[in-house]
Amino acid sequence: MTPFIPGPTYREMLHPESLPEAVRQQAAAAGSDELSPANLFNITWRRPEGSVRCIELPRELTGVAANILVLEGCWFPSGSHKVGPAYCTLMEGEMAGEISPGANRIVGPSTGNFGIGTAYVSKLKGYPATVIMPDGMSAERYERIRHYGGDLDLTPGSESDVILVLERTEEYKKDPANKILAQFELLPNYRFHRYVTGRSAVEAARGFGNRRIAAFVSAPGSAGTLAAGDEIKARFPDAVVCALEPKECSTLFNCGRGTHRIEGIGDKMVTLIHNVLTTDYVGLIHDDDCVMGLDLLEYRRPQLERMLGVPDGAWSGLAGLFGVSGICNVLGAVRMARFLELGAGDNVVTVATDGFDRYPSVLADLDRRVGPPTEAMIAEWFDTIFRQWKAEEILDVRPPEQKERLFGYKEEVWTRFGYDKAYLERMKSQSFWDAELGEIHGIDAAVTKARG
Ligand SMILES: Cc1ncc(COP(=O)(O)O)c(C=O)c1O
Repeated sequence: MTPFIPGPTYREMLHPESLPEAVRQQAAAAGSDELSPANLFNITWRRPEGSVRCIELPRELTGVAANILVLEGCWFPSGSHKVGPAYCTLMEGEMAGEISPGANRIVGPSTGNFGIGTAYVSKLKGYPATVIMPDGMSAERYERIRHYGGDLDLTPGSESDVILVLERTEEYKKDPANKILAQFELLPNYRFHRYVTGRSAVEAARGFGNRRIAAFVSAPGSAGTLAAGDEIKARFPDAVVCALEPKECSTLFNCGRGTHRIEGIGDKMVTLIHNVLTTDYVGLIHDDDCVMGLDLLEYRRPQLERMLGVPDGAWSGLAGLFGVSGICNVLGAVRMARFLELGAGDNVVTVATDGFDRYPSVLADLDRRVGPPTEAMIAEWFDTIFRQWKAEEILDVRPPEQKERLFGYKEEVWTRFGYDKAYLERMKSQSFWDAELGEIHGIDAAVTKARG
């Protein structure tokens, strides 16, 4: 029998300090050997010394009094926090006796980072993997998946063509040896982000301002990350949660369905695991603002520092931390701080899912489209991107009729994929989501037992 490769419990991902000392040491040593299975124990938001990886953005950049705090996803093994949901979905399948090494192929429907996470976790746990994703994503994504030994099955289109990925996934389901890590549908994604990301965010915010969270902002792809908002609201009932979308594909906002350039988000649907009850606002962000904003932060920092009177090199700590969707989240967080009129001491938390390593090709494309920016263009881009916003691009989705509209979108997609109305109806109650969080205790006990 192929051996079972052990990994962490949910609690150990939140609190790696609770791992047995020998395991912690192996995990620390494994950092330099990316393909060592001990890296599964490095799936956490924490630095080795225990603090949560979170950066407070400089005020000269944000232009707002509130603290804009960004959880840094690029430090996770495989380069993005999406490895967490991929690991949890595979691990829960193993614990349920549905997936075992030697018997199954792992299939990851994705637009990139979840696919990278799927290929990576599968490699570490000894499974063959296939990633189904659109053919129009950044070149760096495909390279990473191949590097981890994953097969690629590409569907036509880009980020907003995820439905085609889901349709292709249905074909894989016909072979019972294929096990699908269905991030848009399965609740390990919700559990990872509600419990691990949400509680890490709460802890990170304790180090800033009034130690509370006033707003959590995240642009959904699968909407897993948005689940952190459920946990934040459980701790701070006044906190608001804002989901961001590309202006070019404003599905939650007004059923808009276009193509856009923000890889990882804006998938033209309400995902099954999106708890729309706790989403308070939907904000729109122009896709090229994010691409140009990334160009500014990666390639034009010295000019920006000079322009804003910041000491040379003061922003060097921002290098590499953001991808395009990370900039989208930063812009959304800044605009929410303005919209809510938050002041000094208030914390807005958001997430940078991945880092710059998978976007040089996207900025090369920007360069081809607009050429290298002059000093005047840099100043103009900065002003447009970081200072301007429109209140009408933020929609309040708290009223019951908005919830019904979002439930309706969800039903439209997921009844097509075989989910019955009774299940969808149960998702209209917060108790459904709280019960899903409650499953963690039993799952963790099973993982601990399986490790022996
Ligand atoms: C770069 C990037 N940003 C944001 C997201 C959205 O995260 P979530 O799927 O948790 O909503 C993803 C998801 O794959 C992503 O790859």
